[in-house]
Amino acid sequence: MKEHRIALIPGDGIGTEVVPAACRVLDAVAARHGIALAYDTFDWSCERYLAEGAMMPADGLDLIRGHDAILLGAVGYPGVPDHVSLWGLLIPIRRGFQQYVNLRPIRVFEGVPSPLREARPGDVDFVVVRENVEGEYGEIGGRLYRGLPEETAVQEAVFTRKGVTRVVDHAFELAAGRSGRLTSATKSNGIVHTMPFWDELVAERGALHPGVTWDQEHIDALAAKFVLDPGRFDVVVASNLFGDILSDLAAAIAGSIGIAPAANLNPERDFPSMFEPVHGSAPDIAGRGMANPLGAIWSAAMMLDHLGHPEAAGAVTDAIGTLLSTTRLRTPDLGGTATTAEFTAGLIDLL
Ligand code: NAI
Ligand code: MG
Repeated sequence: MKEHRIALIPGDGIGTEVVPAACRVLDAVAARHGIALAYDTFDWSCERYLAEGAMMPADGLDLIRGHDAILLGAVGYPGVPDHVSLWGLLIPIRRGFQQYVNLRPIRVFEGVPSPLREARPGDVDFVVVRENVEGEYGEIGGRLYRGLPEETAVQEAVFTRKGVTRVVDHAFELAAGRSGRLTSATKSNGIVHTMPFWDELVAERGALHPGVTWDQEHIDALAAKFVLDPGRFDVVVASNLFGDILSDLAAAIAGSIGIAPAANLNPERDFPSMFEPVHGSAPDIAGRGMANPLGAIWSAAMMLDHLGHPEAAGAVTDAIGTLLSTTRLRTPDLGGTATTAEFTAGLIDLL
């Protein structure tokens, strides 16, 4: 039996509560499905930054390069600027390991009311595919004339043929294996260089995937349609910025940010992929044992799928659905009183 080595980065705040919960679920499902998992835990976090001046050691990426996958909780700590945690840990991992696909499934579960009247369980089940390493989140640009009336800021977006093509291809292939429908987020009426380029490449790749029907929507109209008719979507592909916004909106539609998972994939498997809940470190509830662990647990299920264990992954997501639809066990964010540990134990019972 091949052993999978997992790098655990719990991070800060509730990250350190939900990652151990996810590991308990992983261990339970691994035992049932004959999967061998071994963990190495890294203390990379804002707390480490405050103590040692860096989120991770200088050779951090080398320490986890050989792992089969990375499971991350969340980073962020009051007093540490958010760009430190993002650019000191998350972005170096995403970019250094060419995790160019950010995959965020959205599902409205029975038993978790959506804030939207129209979003009924079963209807809403789609995936946002976000470009994860280029686009609007770049380091190119600068500030001029700081503090003067002429003060100026310039920020460049970078879209490459290779970068757009590979994420769009991934989205088309995903759509081909689901309902065969894909929507591309654009804004080529206002952003007149990068977005027409994006649209051209979507059309070019679409022609190579005749089994998939696709359309494109301007990001503003698309955001409105997410709210008005979320059931119409199956796979949505978007640039880094648009995908970031759309996937948070989608997580809100699903009823709680505590449930939403994400995968940062290096599809070629040249490097480990990273799995993490969408939520942050939630300093407002950290340390009280009441965080919802489902986002981390669902992310761990996506990791199992990536590692070649779709049945085990399905068992976890099925158990999440059963837990929410047939029991009243809930953490406070979902209107219950269960602790993280009680909720996790309830899920493990169902497995
Ligand atoms: P957040 O996601 O940490 O919290 C937003 C709200 O949702 C809070 O009221 C929180 O209590 C609640 N919440 C989030 N996850 C929950 C869970 N699992 N169970 C129950 N309630 C949950 O976002 P916020 O407050 O904007 O950011 C807090 C810190 O987290 C910041 O430092 C931010 O930079 C960081 N952050 C880190 C991310 C990451 O590591 N990928 C992603 C988002 C934020
Ligand atoms: Mg975001």
